[in-house]
This record gives sequence, structure tokens and C-alpha cells, in this order.
Amino acid sequence: MPPSALPDGEPVPDDGSLPPEALAQWGERPFGLYVHVPFCTVRCGYCDFNTYTLEELGGAGAAPGASRATYAEAAIAEVRRARAVLGERDVPVSTVFFGGGTPTLLPAGDLAAVVAAIDAEFGLAPGAEVTTESNPDSVTAADLAELREGGITRISFGMQSAVGHVLHTLERTHDPRRVPAVVEWARAAGFEQVSLDLIYGTPGESLEDWGTSLDAALACEPDHLSAYALIVEAGTALARQVRRGDVAMPDDDDLADKYLLADERLAAAGLGWYEVSNWARDEASRCRHNMLYWTGADWWGVGPGAHSHVGGVRWWNVKHPAAYADRLAAGRSPAHAREVLDPETRRVEQVLLEVRLRDGLALDALDGAGRSAVPDLAQRGLVEADPHRLVLTRAGRLLADAVVRDLLP
Ligand SMILES: C[S@@+](CC[C@H](N)C(=O)[O-])C[C@H]1O[C@@H](n2cnc3c(N)ncnc32)[C@H](O)[C@@H]1O
Ligand code: SF4
Repeated sequence: MPPSALPDGEPVPDDGSLPPEALAQWGERPFGLYVHVPFCTVRCGYCDFNTYTLEELGGAGAAPGASRATYAEAAIAEVRRARAVLGERDVPVSTVFFGGGTPTLLPAGDLAAVVAAIDAEFGLAPGAEVTTESNPDSVTAADLAELREGGITRISFGMQSAVGHVLHTLERTHDPRRVPAVVEWARAAGFEQVSLDLIYGTPGESLEDWGTSLDAALACEPDHLSAYALIVEAGTALARQVRRGDVAMPDDDDLADKYLLADERLAAAGLGWYEVSNWARDEASRCRHNMLYWTGADWWGVGPGAHSHVGGVRWWNVKHPAAYADRLAAGRSPAHAREVLDPETRRVEQVLLEVRLRDGLALDALDGAGRSAVPDLAQRGLVEADPHRLVLTRAGRLLADAVVRDLLP
């Protein structure tokens, strides 16, 4: 499937340099690095992430830049460029996140080499969180030990479901019995933070199936769990199946029932929500890297299609791995385009993201019209508000988009 087009924006200088006003803000907020790894063994029918199978990259004869073997080298080249663009100021990295794609398709040593390059260029802050996503069938016990040894501190497994027919509809390749095994290997390797991703609302999934998946996930005793409603993304195999009438579109009432079941079971097991789709055992188990996105902090996104944000400037890289590696090899920035966010856009984004957090939205991010909507939302039981912040109730979390429409009239 060809990846969808990138958004337009302002051009980025060849050296990737940032406007001085943005650069001056770097270091005022926590700083993290996202490293995108754009490879998967097969493409799941629902997924529109920027990822490629070997076949999509032209098989074994792929262009050097698009090959898994040379990927870490290209990513490290971008880490060095990031340092050159941001300058020598001492701003240690508080979080690193390898996402994909399937980062653990790369040898553990390659991920460790990228972590080492980040540490050498910027310095990792003491206690830095270094996460990798992983598919349950892409790691062995030995890989996990090597990843932990190589500086990865947190691992997130794409479990999705524990039910065979649901995994089959999602075109997932792993055996559900593999999940408890990989979690156990991760613990044995010394990972203190283990997270699981689940998807609910897959066509054919009953409420009982969803309960089975939640129970199976909880039996693994994760520190963190993400549960996402299945989104039918345009251009995916799933969207074509829905269009042909082969499978039904996820139903809103069914999704709401499944969200409530998740929140009840997870809370009863000691996992509290801290973002609408994310639950953690305690504050230390929250994903600090994702918190950085949700609170408008700064991050540099390494890799094809990766997005970055520093001091109100957002940019995104060229999408194809070969184009990405070619740009870096030619000594150019891999950024495709950028936008400078004006204060009003930053405020709107803050409302959209912070309203979804357990820590709530600061009321001074609202304009007069937004603030005047708060008493009615509270009366309808959708938010709880004090003079400074508002937090979604459980009913409000089901209607988060509608709440946002009232807060941003
Ligand atoms: C891009 S994947 C990367 C991790 C790994 N490759 C995997 O699939 O497990 C990150 C997570 O995004 C979620 N995801 C991807 N596409 C989705 C969709 N269309 N609807 C809902 N969740 C989706 C899945 O839960 C997945 O675990
Ligand atoms: S393994 Fe993960 S990233 Fe790869 S296609 Fe499936 S959902 Fe997307």
C-alpha cells in the first residue's frame, strides 16, 4: 500500500536549521527523542503507519538506504544532525521511544547503538525512560536480555487481543500464548516497566471476547496498558473490507460498552487511567515519553515520516526510507516541511490534548466562550472542575470529542 501523502507546509532549509525564537525555547520543557523504525514482517490489515515489508522495499535487492541492515546508521546520522541544529547547550534527554513499525525487527545491538549515540550527543538524564515497542513474535528471551543490557528500560508489546478469531480478523501473526511468555522473559531480563497494547471493537469481537482479552492482559500483571478503539483508516485492507460489506464498521455503542468494561476491570486490578486510552499502576509507570507529547513539550523525531516539535515549530521528515537515507547521505536535512505554530494554534492543541489527561486541563487555556461552557458540562456529569482545572468524568471520557467541541466553540 503506498503511504498517504505528507501534509504541505513551509520549506525547511537544507541544513534543517530552526528559527532562533524556537531554538531559544529548547530546554525550557522536557526533551525527548522518538526513533521511528519503519519495518514490519507483514502489514496488518487495519494499520496505516509508515512501515514497509521487505517486499514493499523491493526484497533483498532494496536500495541500501531502505535496508534494515543500514537503518541504524542513517538514524544515528540524524541524531548527530539534531545535535548540530540544536547546538551545544546542555539539555539532557529525558525520554527515548523506539516506535514503528516493529523496532525489534532490528538486531538489539542496532537499537543499543542508537541509544549510545543519543547519550554521546546529548547525554541521557539520570533515570531516563527508554522504551521500545515490540511485536510478541519478534523477540526471544535472549533479544530481551540484550535490549535491557543495551539501555532499553521499558518495553511495550502489541498484544491487541487474546482471542484467536479477533487476532485473525486483525491479521496478527502471533500465537496469543506467546504474550505471557514474552512478558515473563522481559521481567527476567530486568525490565521494570512492561506495557501491553490492546485494540477493541474489531468486527466479530463480542463483549465477552473483550473481557477475555482484558483478563488475559491483566494476568500478565503489566505496569501499563493502552487500549485503543479500532480505527478504520482510509486506504487500509480493513477499510476495503468494510466498504465491500464483508465486515461491519465498529459500532459506537459497542465501543462505549467495551471502554467502560476496560476501565472497570483495569481499575479493579489497580491500573488507573491517566490519559483516556492509557492506564498505569502508579505515577512512576506512566509513559513519560507520551506525556511529553500530550503536554506540548519538545521532541526530535528521528526516521522516515517522523514528526518533531521544538519551541512551537513542528516539522516532519520525508516518508520513504530510501529518500530519508539519501537526504542524510547527501548531508541534507531529512525534513520534508514544517509549520510555525501561532499562539492560538498552540492553545487549541493544548486544549485538545490536556483535556484527555487525568491531570486535567488548566482552565486558563480556555477563552471566554470555552470557560462559559464548563458549568453546563459539569452539570451534565461530563467534567469535574475546580477554579483552576477540569477533568473528564468516566462518562465524559466516552464523549471526549463532544466535550472538546463545547470547550473550543
Ligand atoms: C504502530 S503499532 C507499533 C507496535 C507494533 N508494531 C505492534 O503492532 O504491536 C502501535 C499500536 O498502535 C495501535 N494501532 C495501530 N493501528 C491502529 C488502528 N487502526 N486502530 C487502533 N489502534 C491501532 C496498535 O494497538 C499498536 O499496538
Ligand atoms: S505490526 Fe504494528 S506497525 Fe506493523 S503493520 Fe502491524 S500494527 Fe502496523
